[in-house]
Amino acid sequence: MKTLIVYYSFTGNNALLAGYLKERLHADVYGIAEVKQRTGVTILLDVLFGRNARIKTPSFGGEYDRLVVLGPIWNAGIASPVRTFLKMERGRFEQYAFISVCGGRAGQEAKVTGQLTAAGGKAPVALSLLSLNDRLPADRKLATRKGTSYKIEPGDMEYFKEDIEMFLGKLGV
Ligand SMILES: Cc1cc2nc3c(=O)[nH]c(=O)nc-3n(C[C@H](O)[C@H](O)[C@H](O)COP(=O)(O)O)c2cc1C
Repeated sequence: MKTLIVYYSFTGNNALLAGYLKERLHADVYGIAEVKQRTGVTILLDVLFGRNARIKTPSFGGEYDRLVVLGPIWNAGIASPVRTFLKMERGRFEQYAFISVCGGRAGQEAKVTGQLTAAGGKAPVALSLLSLNDRLPADRKLATRKGTSYKIEPGDMEYFKEDIEMFLGKLGV
């Protein structure tokens, strides 16, 4: 099975997860690139006003059997560049799965699923929100400032392995 991983990452966490999944799935990887430099302020503006992000036209060729999309959660919703990507490319894929390294705010899964479904034109076949708050040990969590600013390191992937394998199981891996 040929897998394409598409990710967006502002602070690097989902980029790191994309690299991990690339190895695990022997997948191709495409990073969503924005037209303008992203800042904390423009994240807030996008979140407050539901603005769409402007992204560079995705450039990946080939036929894929599986699409796995990654990106951060902002204010209990999908990051605006991911939303734009799904809207732009919705006709190009039969199905997709979504996974995110996020702070892990409680009760946000329904809103995330709703936003993915609206943007992608269909619900994801699998969804996993890897929670920094729930999965990192207490001494690491002290550095998370409520999970919104913690930058994971390659060694931290071990805390998410069980969740990742469960997610991949739903994809038949
Ligand atoms: C402005 C802002 C809002 C956020 N809101 C949420 C949230 O509502 N729920 C959540 O689980 N994580 C939230 N986060 C945490 C990010 O999802 C988390 O840090 C993620 O790992 C960042 O991914 P990245 O490094 O790939 O950009 C927020 C982060 C920022 C900067």
